[in-house]
Amino acid sequence: MLRIEKLTKKFGQNTAVDAASLNVEGTAMIGIIGRSGAGKSTLLRMINRLSDASDGVIEFEGRDVTHLTGAAKRAWQSDCAMIFQQFNLVPRMDVVSNVLHGTLNRRSAFTTIFNLYPQSDIHRAIEILDRLGIADHAPKRAEALSGGQQQRVAIARALMQDPKIILADEPIASLDPMNAQTVMEALRRIHEEDGRTVICNLHTLDTARRYCDRVIGMRDGRIVFDGSPEQLTTNMAREIYGAGADFSEAATSTEIGTLEHGHAEDAHIRALREAEATA
Ligand SMILES: Nc1ncnc2c1ncn2[C@@H]1O[C@H](COP(=O)(O)OP(=O)(O)OP(=O)(O)O)[C@@H](O)[C@H]1O
Ligand SMILES: [Mg+2]
Repeated sequence: MLRIEKLTKKFGQNTAVDAASLNVEGTAMIGIIGRSGAGKSTLLRMINRLSDASDGVIEFEGRDVTHLTGAAKRAWQSDCAMIFQQFNLVPRMDVVSNVLHGTLNRRSAFTTIFNLYPQSDIHRAIEILDRLGIADHAPKRAEALSGGQQQRVAIARALMQDPKIILADEPIASLDPMNAQTVMEALRRIHEEDGRTVICNLHTLDTARRYCDRVIGMRDGRIVFDGSPEQLTTNMAREIYGAGADFSEAATSTEIGTLEHGHAEDAHIRALREAEATA
């Protein structure tokens, strides 16, 4: 479905993403990990075409989207909605209007200027907010909501586009553990229930392990690991993060697992931690 072949981004002398290749068959929930500057954001931005690739190919459902322009590029950007760490909502605008912004790509300039939204879109926006558990906040200004609620508004806005792929760049990096969990669970549900592919940059390894079926590790612009959470050994994690022997997964953690309402900590994480503790 999504095929990325030797995708490369250079900024002057600096190669931010270095011949990254990956394939997504069917749908998937993927977590991308790696230390700061590894190229995670640049990779997502290239996929979404916010940033042009220096080299390589992005193919979706057999179609090359690497060099699309104009309306075709905007259509692709609708198909792969992007979510950001800082939510990127219009703070003073009400929640529903923020969500309806997700339909802008397919509306005429006229209806956009006069803020005319079809009834059906308004109903759909409320339905999506309801699904994410925040319909009560629909009339409030976005800035009046908590970070976790705002991120769910951003997810709702993305869902308005009915995207096939959701690209999330550190969606929980500014959230406290409880809100982080709610947002990751929402993304997981969207993947499972709607069959959408979700690709998330995550700065904590345990979040990737917990919510994703597949983890991609980047280091210095290159994909150095691509496999299941089980295949991602502590040694491999050390390699991805370029860390020394004192590396611990908990150090990259938002420690969602310490929450009372959290999932039971996955057995493999526990096993890894125990192995580390006794090493
Ligand atoms: N617009 C830009 N102009 C020049 N260099 C850039 C630009 N964007 C990113 N870079 C460089 O590309 C490399 C990869 O950056 P990127 O933001 O993709 O990393 P990241 O893995 O997302 O890091 P972080 O975890 O800090 O978000 C870095 O060396 C960065 O300085
Ligand atoms: Mg980044």
